[in-house]
This record gives sequence, structure tokens and C-alpha cells, in this order.
Amino acid sequence: MEATRTTVLCVCSVLFVLTDVGCELIHIRSSVHHGTKGKDLLLSVDARFPLDEAEIQGTWSHTKVSGASTTLVTFTKDSKIIDMTYRKRLDFREPNASLSIRNLKEDDEGYYKLSLNIEFRNEKGKVKKEERTIHVTVDEPVSRPIIEKKPSHTVIEDKANVTWTCSVEKGTRVVFRWLRDNVSLTASERYHFTQDKSMLLISPVRKEDKGTYLCAVSNPVSQIIESRGVELNVYYGPYNLQVNSVQGLRTGKVFTINPGELVYFECQADSNPPNSYVWISKSPNATKIITTGPQLQVKSNELAQTEDYLCRAFNNVTKKQDEAQFTLVVANLRTVKEKYTHDGRSMSLLAVIAVCSFIIGFMLLFLFRRACHPKRVLMNIYNRPFSEQKRPHRSGHEDAAEDFGIYEFVSIPGKMDSTQASCKSLARLESIQDMHTTIYDVIRHVPESPSASLLK
Ligand SMILES: *[C@@H]1O[C@H](CO)[C@@H](O)[C@H](O)[C@H]1NC(C)=O
Ligand SMILES: *[C@@H]1O[C@H](CO)[C@@H](O)[C@H](O)[C@H]1NC(C)=O
Ligand SMILES: *[C@@H]1O[C@H](CO)[C@@H](O)[C@H](O)[C@H]1NC(C)=O
Ligand SMILES: *[C@@H]1O[C@H](CO)[C@@H](O)[C@H](O)[C@H]1NC(C)=O
Ligand SMILES: *[C@@H]1O[C@H](CO)[C@@H](O)[C@H](O)[C@H]1NC(C)=O
Repeated sequence: MEATRTTVLCVCSVLFVLTDVGCELIHIRSSVHHGTKGKDLLLSVDARFPLDEAEIQGTWSHTKVSGASTTLVTFTKDSKIIDMTYRKRLDFREPNASLSIRNLKEDDEGYYKLSLNIEFRNEKGKVKKEERTIHVTVDEPVSRPIIEKKPSHTVIEDKANVTWTCSVEKGTRVVFRWLRDNVSLTASERYHFTQDKSMLLISPVRKEDKGTYLCAVSNPVSQIIESRGVELNVYYGPYNLQVNSVQGLRTGKVFTINPGELVYFECQADSNPPNSYVWISKSPNATKIITTGPQLQVKSNELAQTEDYLCRAFNNVTKKQDEAQFTLVVANLRTVKEKYTHDGRSMSLLAVIAVCSFIIGFMLLFLFRRACHPKRVLMNIYNRPFSEQKRPHRSGHEDAAEDFGIYEFVSIPGKMDSTQASCKSLARLESIQDMHTTIYDVIRHVPESPSASLLK
């Protein structure tokens, strides 16, 4: 068992090595090289055959992005001809055909192609051709970005736009990114970027835009470099105005406090800059300012039994204000609670009876109405002046006047099984114009029907 496994492994490795060599005599590590301006570039080539057992001859050529092409070097194993204009900057590495360029310029960008002819000594007359192309970019590293905000002062929510600009002194192919409080920003309804993302326009600015902004830059030859963070402050509010007190019993907008108690109320709202607060007491014939500031102190023994108060918060920069009204009730909290629980059981029993009787009454009423009106006839009273309306000749029930009006026929049911003559006559109608006159008939006849008189 062990032996066979080893054999299989051996065969596999040999196969791997053989195929690898078989399909690739030379190897380049990457088909794209990001070169740095001013630095050296090595286009290295690995020869995957024994160099001393073969004759080689080849060229390195450069094709610029514009399309212009130059042969940089023509070489054999022991001789080389280098293009004169590149003589000082080119370094051709024998014997493995690697090429090195010193002091890279932007102009050196483009495609570098190696064409190689290989003739093995033991296979004379059989020339193998190999070609490899490497894409080279040349970039200048980016410097630390500088971020600028316009306007530089604090802005008012919904009234201003803010423009952020990120700039770099040096660097090519710069990629800009923006972050607020470490969160990457993307374009949205209010966030607009220029095409290269070097500028960000926030229009209009809102409370949620507050935070620390920075821009981050990078390019093929530089790691991400962040600018310093710049704070965006926004004037906003007031929002979420609330009146609170640790004392008393609160039910909705009503605070109940014990007689003699000293109570503090606190008014709070989210706002920048902080609000100014005003407390106002409201009575039917007088509204007066009691105090300013976020706190109100109330001595209950100086109050009437109930009193209405108002807290008004005003942001003097946004010029917006909000107010909250509440009612203060002075009552003995303990007795109120006891009374409530004592009466609780009988109260709920009464409520159940009341609700039941209401439902039964309603159902009875509904049944009677159904019995006398044809199916699917909807009543629609056009509020005509009373004088225009014809009073019914005979009134079988007292509220007939309320039922008076124009009754519109909405749809004619397929089956007419109503026992009442009035219903049948209505069902026979074909045109809408005839309808109103006939409908008056219905009204006239309704009071005579025995069921309608029950409505009384
Ligand atoms: C190619 O040859 C040069 C000089 O001998 C050597 O410095 C370089 O490492 C070689 N490159 C490879 C890929 O073998
Ligand atoms: C903000 O930008 C919008 C357009 O996006 C423009 O209509 C508005 O006038 C600008 N507001 C200010 C204060 O510049
Ligand atoms: C942003 O993230 C870095 C690390 O990822 C952290 O050190 C820094 O405190 C964060 N800043 C904020 C404002 O969250
Ligand atoms: C706004 O109110 C604050 C106090 O809340 C005050 O200090 C400030 O002077 C006021 N500003 C203006 C412009 O009225
Ligand atoms: C407010 O009006 C009531 C009557 O409506 C009156 O009795 C009371 O004296 C008035 N209070 C003040 C402070 O004017």
C-alpha cells in the first residue's frame, strides 16, 4: 500500500515538472508592472531550461501607449546591441534575458515585449520561439492629501451647502475616497461627487451630516494615505421637545401632583446651539411668561386645582422653535388611586353591560333597515334646501324627514325576491333618469310599510 502511494506521488511530481517545462521555457512573474517615477524597473525573466545547453537570440522592444515602437536591445548569448538613446538607462542582464531600466520616466510607460529564439545543442536546426509582453505603468507616489471645507464656518441645516475639496501636491492616477467618522461615503440624493471624486458637495446640509470628514488617496504605487480629519458642525433643531419630571404621576400630557409638593419640571430638546427655554402659564384670560431656562419649579400649594403650562424652546440661530403643553393637576394621588381600584370592578361590569346593549340595539336596527330597503340600494342625500324637498304625504314614523333625499340606484341585483312592492318597482328600473322619480315613490311608501313603523 505504502509503496504504491509513493510511486503515484513520484509519477505525479515528474509529470508536473515535465509539463511545466514543456509548455514554458521562459517565465515572467507578472504581466503588469507598476513602476515608480525616478526609480528603477526590473523586467525579470526566469529561464526554465539549462542555459549552457542552448543558443539564444532575441530582442526586447517597447511600444508606447501612443503606438510608437522601439527596439531596445538585440542580443545573443554573448553579444548585445542597445538602442543608442537608451544606452545610459538600460541594463541588459545576460545570460537570463532580464531587462532593467534606470530612472523611470512617465514616457517609459507602455508594453515591453521579449521575443526569444532558442536552439538546443542536441536539437540543431530546431528553433523554438517564445514571446512575452509586460504592461508597465509609471506613476508618481501621492503626497499626503489636504482637505478643505467651504464655507469654513458652522452652517445652518437645510439652508446651506457644504463643499469639500481634497487635493494632493504630488501623485498620478490618484484615487480619492471620502470618509465621515470612519464610514465610507457614497453618492446619494444630497451627496454629489465630481468625476474623480476629489470634490464632495453636500446639498443641502442636514443634522446627520455632522462629523469628522477626511479624504483618503491612493494610486498603483502608494498605499492609502489619509488626510487629517476636519469637523463639520451643523446648526439644527429644536427636535424632540419633551417635558419631564421625576415627581408626580404622568398620564399623557397631564401631571398629577400631591398638594403641598414642590415639583421640578425639565424641558429638553435636541438643538445646536442649545435652545433658550421659556415657561409660560396659560389660563383662559391670561398667558404669561413665568420663567426662562430649562427648569421650572412649581409649588403646588400656590396653584389652582389645574393649570396649563407651556414650555417653548427656541433656537436663536436656526430661528426655529417648538413647544410642548401640559396640564398640572393638584390632587391627593393616594386617594385617587384607591378610588380607582375600589370602583374598578363595578365599573367594568357596567361597561360590559353598556357595550352589550349597544351591540344588540345596533343589530336590531340593522335588521329592520335591511328588511325594508332593497338590496344594494345606497342612500345618498344631496343636502338640498328643506323648502325644495317634498314632505311625505303621510308620515308613518317620526324621523321620516331625516330619510328624505335623493336615493341613487347603484346596481340592479340579478334576483328580485323582495316581498315588498316598493322594492320590486325599483328593481325594474332601467335608466338612471327615471330613477329619481321612482325613488321618491319609495320614500313615500316606506312609512306605510309595517316594518318601518317598528323603527319608532
Ligand atoms: C538574471 O540574471 C541576473 C544576473 O545574473 C540576476 O541578478 C537575476 O536574479 C536573474 N534573474 C532571474 C529571474 O533569474
Ligand atoms: C445649494 O445648492 C443648490 C443646488 O444643489 C442650490 O439650488 C442652492 O441655491 C444652494 N444653496 C446655497 C445656499 O448656496
Ligand atoms: C476609525 O478607525 C480607526 C481604526 O480603524 C480607529 O482607530 C479610530 O478611532 C476610528 N475613528 C473614529 C472617529 O471612529
Ligand atoms: C442665542 O442665545 C444664546 C443663549 O442661549 C445667547 O448666548 C446668544 O447670544 C444668542 N445669540 C443671538 C444671535 O441672539
Ligand atoms: C379670569 O376670568 C375669570 C372669568 O372668566 C375671572 O373670574 C378671573 O378673575 C379672571 N382672572 C384674571 C387674572 O383676570
